[in-house]
Amino acid sequence: MSPALPQPLAAGTRPSVLAPMQDVTTTGFFRVVARRGAPDWFVTEYLRVHESSTPERHIVESIEAHGTGRPVFAQLIGEDIPHLVRTLRWLVAKLPVAGIDLNLGCPAPKVYRKNVGGGLLRDPAKVDEILRAMRAEIPGLFTVKMRLGFDSQAALAPVTESVARHGVDLLTVHGRTVKGLYWSEVDYAAIAEAVRRVPCPVIANGDVWSAEKASRIVAETGAWGSMMGRHAIRNPWIFRQWREHQLGQPVHRPTLADVRAYLDDLAAECCDADAPDDRRASRLKKFLNFVGLGVDPDGRFLHEMRRTEGMAELMACCDRHLLGERAAEPFAPEPHPGLVARPTRETRVGCGL
Ligand SMILES: Cc1cc2nc3c(=O)[nH]c(=O)nc-3n(C[C@H](O)[C@H](O)[C@H](O)COP(=O)(O)O)c2cc1C
Repeated sequence: MSPALPQPLAAGTRPSVLAPMQDVTTTGFFRVVARRGAPDWFVTEYLRVHESSTPERHIVESIEAHGTGRPVFAQLIGEDIPHLVRTLRWLVAKLPVAGIDLNLGCPAPKVYRKNVGGGLLRDPAKVDEILRAMRAEIPGLFTVKMRLGFDSQAALAPVTESVARHGVDLLTVHGRTVKGLYWSEVDYAAIAEAVRRVPCPVIANGDVWSAEKASRIVAETGAWGSMMGRHAIRNPWIFRQWREHQLGQPVHRPTLADVRAYLDDLAAECCDADAPDDRRASRLKKFLNFVGLGVDPDGRFLHEMRRTEGMAELMACCDRHLLGERAAEPFAPEPHPGLVARPTRETRVGCGL
């Protein structure tokens, strides 16, 4: 029998999960988020599995050395069963993983063309084989993260049937198809359908941008809990806020000065101190692209920060918009409508935008 799923930090609340995000959810980001009120658990960026793969060192570090006290699930992406089994055996034997998660959603063409991630949703029979084989090898928790289908929702019925048949312990559903990328409207009714189809708990994912919306989505879908990705980059207090909202406690409202301190923390923990200055600045801008959605409704901060060069100019721009007269202003709990986290070279990698 599988061990129990992790329970939420606060009794009487639904679980919140930080979404896995390649190149974002590093050891440092786990720490930065946990300092502002941890999610109930984390999921790593995906570990690529193929004939000659070995677990990526920085992802192994995010499992071993995050120091947040919260459980971490290791996510795999691949379709080669012997190598998935080889990798998960190693992870389970060597690392303190809370469980193993399978990626059935990555929409990047160079990924799905290899029939892994979201590409597998075109082949539900193959998904069934993979789930059977992984389940047989995982002594503990086995979780799956899926989208609704590839270019339609046709995969939802057969894949959820396989999830049920093979005793998957928890299913996360991102309510978009692979072709819907990151911008199509999230179909929460389809998440509700997945909840009805599987016996295991479901975590709802996709555009959960505030504590209030998280409560609405779990009520609407019947999901057990909620996973936040880009909205946790913008607002790393979201997990704490949802916990407080559910408990009927006053909800923490960070100020722009708190946001400025968050950026220092990101620079220290998530931007390689040995990298050239322009690389550090472009890495920080990747996060700022999301943070900026809550700074001002007309997008002036986003506009100006994108045009800065180097760390000193970038930080001076952050000071101008977040400190001084504006320091005590509350940070918007939801993104301002109409602003876009424009993709940068940095965000075009892997599963990214
Ligand atoms: C930059 C970036 C990288 C991502 N990398 C992964 C990944 O490695 N594994 C995965 O399952 N999903 C990945 N995703 C998808 C997220 O986990 C999540 O499902 C998606 O962003 C929708 O949630 P949100 O609206 O809260 O961001 C990534 C998303 C982004 C924006």
